Amino acid sequence: MPEVYTLSTLDYELPVSPEDRYGVLGYPVKHSLSPQFQLAGFAKREIAAQYVRIEVPIEQLSAAVEKLKQMNFKGWNCTLPHKIEMLKLCRRLDESAQKLQAVNTVLNEDGTLIGFNTDGTGWVRAIREEFSVDVRDLRVMILGAGGAGQALATQAALEKCERLVLVNRTLEKAQALAKALDSHFHSEKLQGSHNRLLVLPWDEDAIAAEVNNIDLIVNATSVGLKPHDPAVLPERVLQPHLLVYDTVYRQTKFLEAAQDAGARCANGLSMLLHQGALAFEIWTGKKAPIEEMRKALKEAAGI
Ligand code: ATR
Repeated sequence: MPEVYTLSTLDYELPVSPEDRYGVLGYPVKHSLSPQFQLAGFAKREIAAQYVRIEVPIEQLSAAVEKLKQMNFKGWNCTLPHKIEMLKLCRRLDESAQKLQAVNTVLNEDGTLIGFNTDGTGWVRAIREEFSVDVRDLRVMILGAGGAGQALATQAALEKCERLVLVNRTLEKAQALAKALDSHFHSEKLQGSHNRLLVLPWDEDAIAAEVNNIDLIVNATSVGLKPHDPAVLPERVLQPHLLVYDTVYRQTKFLEAAQDAGARCANGLSMLLHQGALAFEIWTGKKAPIEEMRKALKEAAGI
């Protein structure tokens, strides 16, 4: 089977098969590890299924979705840059997609497309698994206010976390996000004199001062995606009491710095796993075999 299909190769290169069809749409999508761990899940649950990577430029998304419907795909994931555009192409949106205003999982129910978002809940499960704590009990700092930062900050607000601090290089984006989330933070949960929802500029001294009042720092910027990227924050800003989570799914320089500072650390592999496991459950109605999926994902990631 080819590593990646395109809109023009999909219908004549994908083997004709009675198996259920699933896939991941993205641009680029070649790096996606979803096929390896979703197929391990299907195998364990004895579901005969295909799961393929489909490379679709954003301007072809609507045509690609029509083709997937024609070809009876039962569902698909979408990754960058399709998560927002897919909102419009779904007939119905689950509450998760409505709240995060992005779709990463589509269920095709006899031609009716239902959009879900498992990124936020997958992250919550990942934090619980990695650190044995719930996001709602934490004071959270999110670095980044792009697509990933918006999703995680929104989920943290929905969880009614103790405190949320948003930090972004372009301050206006963090301010706009805080404005959108403000209503979640007017409640009985008071936090002494510290604002429950705060925006900080990208200033290491300001961040270092605020870290005293934070339990969990999450890197949701794109810094660390490339292997030679520097640490998004240096060791001197970090402290031993912190939990540090990087959405990038390998050991980054940021995680190394956090480890050197004595913090507990985890990378984004667990988030990738749990968002995929939740998608698996939406599609199949069966419990995802987490351990088999994790093993396959680690193998695919070379860990
Ligand atoms: P994604 O959807 O993965 O979040 P994105 O929407 O392009 O991708 O957002 C990238 C995020 O990484 C943004 O928060 C960006 O900050 P800006 O909003 O200021 O662009 C952040 N980012 C990228 N490079 C960065 C850098 N060198 N230092 C700090 N933040 C950076």
